[in-house]
Amino acid sequence: MSARKISFVLNRRPQETEIDDSVLLLDFLRDRGLTGAKPSCEMEVCGSCTILIDGLPFSACTTLAVEVEGRTVETIEGVARNGELHPIQEAFVERFAMQCGFCTPGMVLTAKALLESNPDPSRDDILHWMEGNICRCTGYESIVEAILSAAAKAGTGDG
Ligand code: FES
Ligand code: FES
Repeated sequence: MSARKISFVLNRRPQETEIDDSVLLLDFLRDRGLTGAKPSCEMEVCGSCTILIDGLPFSACTTLAVEVEGRTVETIEGVARNGELHPIQEAFVERFAMQCGFCTPGMVLTAKALLESNPDPSRDDILHWMEGNICRCTGYESIVEAILSAAAKAGTGDG
């Protein structure tokens, strides 16, 4: 085991830290109080640990913290701005797209990445893009409705 110094941006704030090569990004984040990303399968299957790296979804359970050197990381804690929910978060609330909420941080971040790359996704686009995020409460229909709603609002300049 060896430690190295890494610099990266976490939720819009530059970070510089020394970290052991073997520390998982999920543990690194949770040890710093960013507990929105959740450990569950811990083998890149369920999406509960999803974070964004350079705007794309990654499983923090299979990413080493040292791999984010020079990159930009966003967790669910960084999505709301100045106390205002992101339009996708608002849509999840409006459409009741959560039950226990365990999957919700990962769902919101994956949906955010989708709408940033494709602002007008079809239902099939959403189902395909979100297939790596599992909801144990099986609230998929309302999750898809929420993402469609957020996209529609953004399209009308309402979101
Ligand atoms: S805990 Fe990382 S994908 Fe399931
Ligand atoms: S809302 Fe419970 S796991 Fe998705």
